[in-house]
Amino acid sequence: MTTKSLSSWSALSAHYEDIRDARLRDWFAGEQGNESRAERFTLEGGGLVADFSKNRITDETLRLLVALARETGVEARRDAMFAGEIVNPTEKRAALHTALRATSPAAPFHAQVSAERARMAAFADAVRSGSWTGYTGKRIRHIVNIGIGGSDLGPKMVVHALAHLAHPQISSYFVSNVDGADLARVLERIDPEETLAIVVSKTFTTLETMTNARSLRDWLVQQGCPENALAKHFVGVSANPAEVVKFGIAQENVFEMWDWVGGRYSLWSAVGLSIMLAVGPEHFDALLAGAHDMDQHFRSAPLERNLPVLMGLIGIWYRNFFDSQSYLVAPYSEALHFLPSYLQQLEMESNGKSARLDGAFVDYPTSAVTWGEPGTNGQHAFFQMLHQGPTIVPIDFIAVLTPEHPLASHHPKLLANCFAQSEALMLGRTVEEATQVAGPDKPELVPHLVFPGNRPSTTLLLDALTARSLGALIALYEHKVLVQAAVWNINPFDQWGVELGKILGKVVEADLTAPAFEASKHDSSTSALIARARRALGS
Ligand code: F6P
Repeated sequence: MTTKSLSSWSALSAHYEDIRDARLRDWFAGEQGNESRAERFTLEGGGLVADFSKNRITDETLRLLVALARETGVEARRDAMFAGEIVNPTEKRAALHTALRATSPAAPFHAQVSAERARMAAFADAVRSGSWTGYTGKRIRHIVNIGIGGSDLGPKMVVHALAHLAHPQISSYFVSNVDGADLARVLERIDPEETLAIVVSKTFTTLETMTNARSLRDWLVQQGCPENALAKHFVGVSANPAEVVKFGIAQENVFEMWDWVGGRYSLWSAVGLSIMLAVGPEHFDALLAGAHDMDQHFRSAPLERNLPVLMGLIGIWYRNFFDSQSYLVAPYSEALHFLPSYLQQLEMESNGKSARLDGAFVDYPTSAVTWGEPGTNGQHAFFQMLHQGPTIVPIDFIAVLTPEHPLASHHPKLLANCFAQSEALMLGRTVEEATQVAGPDKPELVPHLVFPGNRPSTTLLLDALTARSLGALIALYEHKVLVQAAVWNINPFDQWGVELGKILGKVVEADLTAPAFEASKHDSSTSALIARARRALGS
């Protein structure tokens, strides 16, 4: 049965017609004497605060959205995930990233998880203290994480976010792209005697990662590292340890993850080794503790006051009823620079699906396009469109109340911009107000000075950017994605959509480099592109 035929969906459709023209500024203006919208729609969970009041919602909207969550079995999907049931049926796997941050010994795979974490911590302590050295006896100062997608985006985002907690003598680099420029730029900056490469790949077959890992290994040897000393400079993280050893990494330098950890949900596992190396085991534990705080909130808070549930449902409200094509993540924090790209994979690889769990196709849109940039930079690039373009883009503003750096005088300016943007987007500027601003001499400017307003946003607040608050923030989005998947009746834990391009990529690569190629194998566009590239490559 399609979600669209549920009674809560029909009720939401009718409710949308009732409130589609209602204006947020009127709702805020009309709250005198009543409990304010800010009070009604601001919630706390997992140590974070979420102000949903600038969304185009009423109490009735939330009541109906929560009814939709109940009708689509969000709670059952959540509980099945935590219990380790097969919630990824196309790959016949559980999705137990929550077990990686669980504290109870009764949690699934607790012994395995604890043992691997202890190995990671011992290794991280050895590297951080300088007792683990490179082949010439020098301490490790350069950590190069080689991975892509979930084996790159999460660790990179967290290492950047927690740079203020990082070991002062260790620099972290992330190489993901098969474009040699990515690795080449890092090679210019590292010293082979002081470099440790972490090759991270769940499958250990990924083209980009294996290509970069081989090139780095060749470079180390060219730079003088004896083959038999490579173990000092290479560790591997994978759910396929046999392949890691085949690649030439010593068995004792292999850290394991498991098939029940999805790539884009894996930073909590050994995939986060680069995080632990940068900030140390204690902060890594705090990251896990923050995620666990959010897990507990997600499991126990009533749906009406549950942050991931409400974020997911409000996203559905815009995607499926307002027909919003995209949503923006605007962290007002340079430290969270890579959060939007991390969320792109989390949201779009998880929920960019058309096949429902029962194999039929959806008759409603699923994942919105997720995009973003830190504020205030975005204000000077694309906010024009958010304020005055005809398209409505819902926004998640994320603000950190206290700075993690010494330049405290910047902070009121940063926060002011964040809060002012959500206010301006919500209020807009009426024709009358624009007429006042234009003045009597310039009536022709009025249309250009009008802001439609009524542009919705959520503001998330972190007291400070700590490992713990960051863990909670990431887990909030992970669970939001699950909530949406449950409502859309899709599997958020597989990614078949990446396969076709990979298969054709191998064919095209062979055609680019082989002595001859058969143009008729491809369409005329692809053949012509290959022919031009063959000439340039001298094939
Ligand atoms: O191509 C998509 C993908 O499979 C992602 O889901 C995954 O995070 C990434 O590639 C990397 O995969 P692996 O960790 O196996 O190298």
